[in-house]
Amino acid sequence: MIPLINKVDSVNEYYSKYAKTYDSSRTTPHFSKLNKLQYLFLKENIDLNKRILEVGCGTGEFLKRIPTAVGIDFSEEMVKVAKSKNLNASLGDATRLDFKDNSFDYSFSFKVFAHVPNCQLMLSEMVRVSKIGIVFDFYNFFSLKALKDYFNGGDYIRHDDFNSVKSLLGDLKITVVDEKKHKGYFMVAGLK
Ligand SMILES: C[S@@+](CC[C@H](N)C(=O)[O-])C[C@H]1O[C@@H](n2cnc3c(N)ncnc32)[C@H](O)[C@@H]1O
Repeated sequence: MIPLINKVDSVNEYYSKYAKTYDSSRTTPHFSKLNKLQYLFLKENIDLNKRILEVGCGTGEFLKRIPTAVGIDFSEEMVKVAKSKNLNASLGDATRLDFKDNSFDYSFSFKVFAHVPNCQLMLSEMVRVSKIGIVFDFYNFFSLKALKDYFNGGDYIRHDDFNSVKSLLGDLKITVVDEKKHKGYFMVAGLK
């Protein structure tokens, strides 16, 4: 159940318009808790002292907690906000990472997979540049979030079921070592 999203430009446009107010919109109890849980999941599965890449770093919600990490994002405006905080963010496409194989020990990505039409390519790129493993999340198909997004007309958002995502990981020879569900979000950690 991994349908394609066709409006790639609209994702970029959406985040570029959203960049200035993104941080203030994410201080709600929902996002505060989600970000805390995602950071905890990251700490449980990644040695944060290793070489780390964040894919789709946005305004730097996670980069600010891991100052040695490198982030990429395809929205110029989101990257501008991250850079204004002196974070190591630059422009880049999740499906064409501009790094050599195994440049990092781990890569991670939160709240991005659901917006990438070719999510298989995104995962294979994350696996290619990571020597040890990857952590990411996706939006759970079987959730109230999926229903809400559907009625809100979220045409740039995809929702997936875990079996489809697991089969993508299997194709990439990634072994799932941890998984956690929180509301409409599903977090996965995998090792090479
Ligand atoms: C919901 S925000 C998440 C930002 C950050 N990871 C966080 O948790 O706050 C999604 C981000 O993914 C970025 N993004 C979406 N598709 C992308 C792609 N193909 N390549 C790089 N970045 C992408 C957007 O520009 C946006 O900054």
